Amino acid sequence: MKQITRIMGIDPWKITANKIEIEQRRLQESLTSIGNGYMGMRGNFAETFSGDHHQGTYVAGVWYPDKTRVGWWKNGYPEYFGKAINALDFAKIRLFIDQKEVDLATAEVENFELSLNMKNGVLTYHYIVAGVRVTAERFFSIATQELAVFKFTFENVDGDLHSVRVESFINANVHNEDSNYAENFWEIYDHGTTENGSYILSQTVPNPFGVDQFTLLARQEYLGDFDITQQIFEDGAVIDTLDEVLPFSETLTLEKRVTVLTSRDYDDLSVMTNASVALTDSLSEVTYDELFNAQTEGWATRWELADVQIEGSDEAQQGIRFNLFQLFSTYYGEDERLNIGPKGLTGEKYGGATYWDTEAYAVPLYLALADTSVTHNLLKYRHHQLPQAQHNARQQGLKGALYPMVTFTGVECHNEWEITFEEIHRNGAIAYAIYNYTNYTGDETYLAHEGLEVLVEIARFWADRVHYSKRKDQYMIHGVTGPNEYENNINNNWYTNTLATWVLKYTSEALSKYPRPELNVSADELEKWQEIITKMYYPQDEELGIFVQHDGFLDKDLTPVAELDPKNLPLNQNWSWDRVLRSPYIKQADVLQGIYFFGNKYSLDEKRKNFDFYEPLTVHESSLSPSIHSILAAELGYDEKAVEMYERTARLDLDNYNNDTKDGLHITSMTGSWLAIVQGFAQMKTWDGQLSFAPFLPKAWKGYAFHINYRGRLLKITVNDSVTIDLLKGTPIDLIIYDHQINLTDQYKCSVS
Ligand code: BGC
Repeated sequence: MKQITRIMGIDPWKITANKIEIEQRRLQESLTSIGNGYMGMRGNFAETFSGDHHQGTYVAGVWYPDKTRVGWWKNGYPEYFGKAINALDFAKIRLFIDQKEVDLATAEVENFELSLNMKNGVLTYHYIVAGVRVTAERFFSIATQELAVFKFTFENVDGDLHSVRVESFINANVHNEDSNYAENFWEIYDHGTTENGSYILSQTVPNPFGVDQFTLLARQEYLGDFDITQQIFEDGAVIDTLDEVLPFSETLTLEKRVTVLTSRDYDDLSVMTNASVALTDSLSEVTYDELFNAQTEGWATRWELADVQIEGSDEAQQGIRFNLFQLFSTYYGEDERLNIGPKGLTGEKYGGATYWDTEAYAVPLYLALADTSVTHNLLKYRHHQLPQAQHNARQQGLKGALYPMVTFTGVECHNEWEITFEEIHRNGAIAYAIYNYTNYTGDETYLAHEGLEVLVEIARFWADRVHYSKRKDQYMIHGVTGPNEYENNINNNWYTNTLATWVLKYTSEALSKYPRPELNVSADELEKWQEIITKMYYPQDEELGIFVQHDGFLDKDLTPVAELDPKNLPLNQNWSWDRVLRSPYIKQADVLQGIYFFGNKYSLDEKRKNFDFYEPLTVHESSLSPSIHSILAAELGYDEKAVEMYERTARLDLDNYNNDTKDGLHITSMTGSWLAIVQGFAQMKTWDGQLSFAPFLPKAWKGYAFHINYRGRLLKITVNDSVTIDLLKGTPIDLIIYDHQINLTDQYKCSVS
């Protein structure tokens, strides 16, 4: 049985705790992160907490290029490593009651309660200390994304007269947890005070790579019962002191509003300053309740479409909502310059903003749960970065475009050779997302225009990256890392070879449907692509009836994971890297990822044989993995396995399954629990543009229900002792349910088979 750590209470809509986790505060902070896509914050206390913790506030798209430093420089390495940097700490206060500072790591605190309400993204905690009940409430506005609101209430509970002092900070003197060389990424450009607060203007330190420096202008202002008694600038922070006396049975409130503007939106400093002042002024007309209501309404609209209801398991219910909540707090598609980083706005690990995770795992969810324009934006993001992807290919001496494994701008910014040079399968996922969008929406205009421009360059990359083996009269791809990062420099990764050929084929077909003479794809080039398609080599084993992960995989010691002493797990925390690489253990779906992508191309028998072979060797040490196994298990009728894999993805962070949630949430794999329910349990497929379902109900549940957007319709799928499909919006649609073809006009009901 895998060890889990569950520090938060079970509630269908809330993440709760009734104690301050002194030893595991980082974990508690990760789990109470909030964000609005524009900026986000770990669940740090505003007040001082002197224990071990990780203070982190992040502004989307604000980063720093840190010089790549390695012992042995290899040609083709990216010049720099891109880091998501900790932005200004604007939540910070120092709270003094009767001149004594409240340090939440050491203070004698009673009645502590913490609650993150996923219905509206409001984080609240309260406690009693020194005769005063303190309530802190915060949210990052989704109506005005530059705004963060912090409201404190102080209630006299013991009848003595108390003095309350709040020192309110915007602190630019922050550090990155993952900084290699203890650098400071910010320098202060300007700071000052206003009648009702203060501001700080800071800029990322210069870099030698020509990457734009970022500027942040953060401003704090107050409402409520307190008066500003002092304003200073000290040690990289503006600090406003606010004082008030708290008489018997009275309550004081202090609302701190912070606005953060960035040079991403304003290239001119004076324009940015004017906009910041104007925003603060306009907000001063708006009450707290109005801001709060707008927040609640904004989230209600999101939930109306996205919510998945599970009956019979509050744990599962909380898990799926938490994942959707955190995913949408990271990205809701409003800004096409942004993307979805593996830790979102909840931590720094992994550095960059954009991985193949977006195309492989997030796109299917956003297609169904948001407006089509959201996925369109994600596709456009890659289209805008085509020149950089061409640059990446050139860096490796290759033609066409190589999309980066890790990036902010399109230029590869990850510098481990086995990833940068070898994990080229990512290029396939970028192309696959174009197919996915086109197939799901039925809208071919993106494919015909921007899509083909991307596809042709990716196809050119593959055509150059393959080599011809004279001996076998076949094309091959050597020296790669597949999705399974627990093996490097392998030859003929089945998944990579499959995707490469598929791209060549899909691109050729799209070109013949939508000719694009200006892309200069010559007849010779097309012929060459065709030859590669025909003569590609795929490792397979006839006897086992499986696609082989790569040449040589079957010669490993294929002892199943179940036979390992559990104390070896997770392997990446217990074994030397060398031992991991030599082992047969698979970090994440690899062959099975390919079978999942092209589900209509393989028979059930092929799927079963491959699943039965690879699942026992898979350790799922990438959080991206279990959802794919869950979906395939469900299709194969392995219901228990499907549920087991679902549980790993649904509560991965809430139960700290991989023992690393303290570093931040696994944002990109949060899509996995939704995928497992919708594409797994409900078996929703859109193969060849035909929508179909074949649901089953997990034994422990009484029912589940979800909505999807599909080609202008809104459908509701409810599964309990029967299956009900409601057409809530849009024109009638042909569907397949189990094996029945139906035309859905309003509602269809059948039993679960
Ligand atoms: C996985 C990659 C993934 C990255 C970011 C790694 O652990 O192996 O597939 O892109 O995490 O989520």
